[in-house]
Order: sequence, then C-alpha cells, then structure tokens
Amino acid sequence: MAINKQDHAQWSSSFGFVLAAVGSAVGLGNIWKFPYMVGESGGSAFVIAYLFCIALVGFPVLVAEWLIGRRGQKNPINTFKDVAVSEGKSSSWGIVGVTGILGGFLILSFYSVIGGWALNYITKVGTGSFAGQNSDSVAATFDGMLASAGTLTIWHTVFMIITALIVGIGVTRGIENAAKIMMPLLGVILFIIVGYNVINGGFGEAVNYLFAPDLSKLTVDVMLAALGHAFFTLSIGMGIMVAYGSYLGREVNLLKTARTVVILDTVIALAAGLAIFPIIFSNGLDPASGPGLIFVSLPIAFGGMAGGTIIGTLFFLLITFAAVTSSISLLEPSVEFLEERTSMNRTMSTIAASTVIWLLGIAALLSFNLWSDFTIMGNGIFDALDKLTSKFLLPLTGLAGIIFFAWRMDQRSIQQELNLSNGAWQIWQIITKFVAPIAIIVIFVVALIG
Ligand code: PFF
Ligand code: NA
Repeated sequence: MAINKQDHAQWSSSFGFVLAAVGSAVGLGNIWKFPYMVGESGGSAFVIAYLFCIALVGFPVLVAEWLIGRRGQKNPINTFKDVAVSEGKSSSWGIVGVTGILGGFLILSFYSVIGGWALNYITKVGTGSFAGQNSDSVAATFDGMLASAGTLTIWHTVFMIITALIVGIGVTRGIENAAKIMMPLLGVILFIIVGYNVINGGFGEAVNYLFAPDLSKLTVDVMLAALGHAFFTLSIGMGIMVAYGSYLGREVNLLKTARTVVILDTVIALAAGLAIFPIIFSNGLDPASGPGLIFVSLPIAFGGMAGGTIIGTLFFLLITFAAVTSSISLLEPSVEFLEERTSMNRTMSTIAASTVIWLLGIAALLSFNLWSDFTIMGNGIFDALDKLTSKFLLPLTGLAGIIFFAWRMDQRSIQQELNLSNGAWQIWQIITKFVAPIAIIVIFVVALIG
C-alpha cells in the first residue's frame, strides 16, 4: 500500500483496510514459522506463552500503532516525529520509525527464501512427486532442495521478483482484493487437512501436545521466542501497521478491527498446528526438526489422500499467495523511504531496495548449504537474521512504541478515540502502561542474563 496522501481517500472503507492488515499479518509466520517454533520449544508451553503474548502485548501494541498512525497520517518516521512534537515531546521518537523500516528490510531477506521454498513445492507437488511417498523419501526431497544453493537461489529470486513487481508497479491493492478469495480458500484447505488428520491418526496426540498445559517446559527462552513471534505474526514492531494506520478513517473502531485481525491470525496459526502435528506424530517424525517442518510433513498427507496432488498444489499456491501479501508489506516501507529521501523514483527505489534484500537473502540461503559452517555468535546467517529481528528489533521497537503511547501521549484523548467506558479504560491503562511494557522488559532482560 503506497503511503502517499492521494491514496487516502480511496481507503474510506474499513473493509479494504482489514484486508490489507490481514494480508500483511497472515503469512508464512502462521503456517511455516508458528508450527516449527512450537516444535522447537516442546509444544504447549510455547502455545500458551504465545497466546498470552498475543493478548497482553500484541493486541495493545497493534491498537497503539494504528492509533499513532492515524494521528500522524505520514510514513512511520515522520508520524512518530509529528505525533511526539504535537504532544510536546522530543522529535527523536522518529527513531522508532527507523528501526521499523530496518526490521522489515531484514525480515524480507529470509522471508523471501522461504517464499521460494513454497514456490518450489507448488511445482513438486503439482508434478506428483509425492504420490505414494513415505516420510523418508519426502524428507530426502526436502534435504535435496536445501543442499542445492542453485535451486534455492532460483526460487528465492522468483519470489523476490514477484514481490518487487507488485510493489514497483503499485498494484498492491489489487493483490489485497484477490486476498478476499484466496485467504478463505487457504482456511478451507487447512481444515481439509485437519479433517484428514482426524481420520488418519495422530490427532489426539497433537491436540495434547499443543494444548495440554506442560509448564515444566516454560523457560525464559521459550517466552522470548513466543514474544518475538507475537510481533512477527501480527506484523507489529515494524512501523508497517503505523503506516497502515494512516489510511484509517476516523470512524473505524480500532479495538474491534484489531480483534478481527488478531483472531484471524491466531486461528490460522492454530489450524496450521493441527494440520501438521498429527502427521508428525503418526509418522514418527521429529517435531523439533526446524524450518523444514511443514515441508517434510504435509507432503506425506498430500501423497496419501485422495485428490492429494490437487489439494497439495493448491495449498502451496495459497501459502505462496499469503506470503506475497505479507512480503509486499515488508518491502513497501524501504521503497517508500528511498523514494522520499533520495532522488530515485519509485521504480529505481524498488529495484535498489529489492536488490540489496535479494543479496542478503542469498547469504541466508547459503547458510543451508555452502556456508553452513559460517556462524555469527553460534548461528548461521539465516538464523542470525531471524533471531536479530524477532528477538531484538521487533520487541524493542514495539516496547518503544507502547511506552510512547501509554506514557508520552495525552491519555484523555486516547480514551475518547478508543471509545472506552471508565471500567474498560482502567483495564486498558493497566495493560498498556504496565503489563505490556513490563512483560517485554522482564522477558528481555532475563533472557539476556540467563
Ligand atoms: N506477519 C507476517 C507473517 O506472519 O507471515 C510476516 C510479517 C509481515 C512480519 C510484515 C512483519 C511484517 F512487517
Ligand atoms: Na502472521
């Protein structure tokens, strides 16, 4: 979505806004990342921490970012500056917008690599590669892809080109409209897979694994991972929702809209969990196998179910689509920034930003093969980018945002704008002033020390 004033009039409908926000939120984070993080963190402990983080941190931060964006009516940097100045505070709050742009830039580099995996799997499933395969051969196919720097580069490149074309030509709105059909369809297919699992076993075990409280596994590391993922999955702590907020009409109810986005995003993630873990358990796979989790589990189901080739192809097509509606929101702020701050026009800005992100993505994908020995503080490049953004940049940017919102802005006018009765307002104040920021600080500090 272009962040210039002319467009504002066209976004009068709150439905269009919800589409853009859901398009950005629902993506690989729900279907690829959430399940493998659950698996790496040992199941329900992560899920529970994640649900708490979504409700007590993610939701308020989302509302705060939209409200600030709606007040500022500009790009995130100028929005934070202007809103701060109009509240009589320092314009250096603009920095919150800068770290946001950086976050989107870094995330897109590895996001595009995974988008490439999904693209590659459209062709693999579509050509019937998985029909009648067992878990060993499915895993071998995935390992084969990962070992080939060339294959990964090709698909990462294709994904990046698609993203850049959409942003460069400025047709993001058309894509968001297509989301009206594609997103519900993605939901339907997820539930078909869940249904298949109910029949084919492992379902009870998966439900147990995901939801039966096992707090013995609830370590600070798990909490930090859950916190970071709450930011990642809702596209917050990155300035993107601030930018989107500038399109919001006065009449839009922020709390209700945020509730819709948060619920949709969470339901898709949990459904992805129920689509994947039964297959993991009924095939004796390792839940902690990392970023490849959906690629070594789902094809087994597609290989075994009636119509699996069609359903599987459609599934990877739809994930790719969901990934694209997120990746355009990751690229847009960098392009916008270059367009406004340099002499480059939109086309050149898009090419410049995408090229640098693309190169960084190549470094990330090489960490799965040729450069697997190269580590930064114990992490390969891919993991390093992921951790740096999810565990540092996003939570810290979100923390600054919520502190600004709850402690630096005039609270009276916020109460009016959110239309909260006095009782609800008190709860809201406790959450935004104390619970959310303290949760972020405590999790952060303890995780760093420990
Ligand atoms: N929220 C997206 C997902 O869950 O896949 C990823 C994402 C998009 C993160 C946009 C951050 C962002 F600004
Ligand atoms: Na998400």
